[in-house]
Amino acid sequence: MDNRALGQLDKLNVWHPFTQMRDWVAGTPIVITEGSGCFIKDARGRWYLDGVSSLWVNIFGHRKKEIDDAIKAQLDKIAHATLLGLAGEQSILLAVRLVKLLGKSLVSQGRPPLTKVFYSDNGSTAVEVALKMAFQYWLHKGVTGKNAFLSLNRAYHGDTLGAVSVGGIDIFHSTFNPLLFKTFKSPAPYCYRCELGLEPASCAMACLSEMEKILKEHANETAAVIIEPKMQAAGGMIAAPEGFLRGVHGLCAKYGVIFIADEIATGFGRTGGMFACGAEEVVPDIMCLSKGITGGYLPLAVTVATDEIYNAFLGDVGQTFFHGHSYTGNALACAAALAVLDLFETEDTLNQLRPKIEILAQWLKRILHICGHVGDVRSAGFMAGVELVRDKKTREAYPADEKMGWRVVLDVREKGVFLRPLGDCIVIMPPLVISEDNLSAMLQRLEESIINVTE
Ligand SMILES: Cc1ncc(COP(=O)(O)O)c(C=O)c1O
Repeated sequence: MDNRALGQLDKLNVWHPFTQMRDWVAGTPIVITEGSGCFIKDARGRWYLDGVSSLWVNIFGHRKKEIDDAIKAQLDKIAHATLLGLAGEQSILLAVRLVKLLGKSLVSQGRPPLTKVFYSDNGSTAVEVALKMAFQYWLHKGVTGKNAFLSLNRAYHGDTLGAVSVGGIDIFHSTFNPLLFKTFKSPAPYCYRCELGLEPASCAMACLSEMEKILKEHANETAAVIIEPKMQAAGGMIAAPEGFLRGVHGLCAKYGVIFIADEIATGFGRTGGMFACGAEEVVPDIMCLSKGITGGYLPLAVTVATDEIYNAFLGDVGQTFFHGHSYTGNALACAAALAVLDLFETEDTLNQLRPKIEILAQWLKRILHICGHVGDVRSAGFMAGVELVRDKKTREAYPADEKMGWRVVLDVREKGVFLRPLGDCIVIMPPLVISEDNLSAMLQRLEESIINVTE
């Protein structure tokens, strides 16, 4: 079937995520039929560089032989059997590998390492599991009243209702307010548009003091603090200043609340280290991982907890963690994840990434300098955002109906690069294994599009 025919059928029967379908059906969808390396191909035969790693999941490119082979080999054994009442070879092997990796990647500073892996299917479910675990933990400890959570403004932790409760992006989340549980919101470390009206050079991270004020007053109501370490991604690629993560972790310890690190976007090399928490020597009580875990092949997520959390659930039936999904611990997905962990070792991925992080960092500096409508650039390792503004001096944003971010990504799409904006922030997150040449070419084209569209 050709692109046009498939596109018509898509409009007839597919409801797309995060998409105003009235606009979608007025356009011509790009229908993807193939992928190879860092490129995806549409039904017209056009190739695009996958500049957002198929929504931040792809690490090693498409049709990576080692991952393909691992899935095929597993398919010859079994695709899936339940973890309710049974154990699975692949989910056991993956849990052991993940615990080892976390132990190696996070400096524990006397705090217990993460040891217990709870499987689910996607980032949102990993977060639901973490929130429910934290809530129930306190009940088992005989502590009542901790019925709320603390999260950041502009946070994004997924789209299920628990994850939405701890979210902080009005356009996505406010519709559902009547359905959500209680949360306290603390300022995002968004230095370019500081909620407190301060400047990074002199603020002494006042956003952390705001969090402390909330905890001082409400720790007895707060089960856990949840944040996206180092980078609030979907909130507009908001890179936290050095020390913010450590500061939040310290406050959790001081006020006796659980610290949940949502590393769904940042985990598996995205920020340059294996996990973002490693950069600030933070070991959370609970960590959520998904996206890159299978290299972008299959849905899988884990919520990893300490022995302290896990042990609180040991006891009679009432102490059970009553949560699970049909596809929990799926063998094909776990086999893909094991292949991904092998590849990190055999390809020395994190060391190979360093020069590319440097190329990206240099380009970000350059685009900020040369372009009159780039207000701010932000990055953490190999995830970056470029914020477009109408007026660089006053930081005035473009009116939303100008859709400037969209106009830029549509322009660069014509040049064979697939990107997606978050409002007027252009997200740059190619697969970790992109070649230096392809990375430079992508940035060059994006630069041309930004200048072309904004000036
Ligand atoms: C930090 C973070 N948490 C959770 C999620 C939700 O993951 P999923 O889309 O797999 O449900 C995302 C997705 O972008 C994310 O970036």
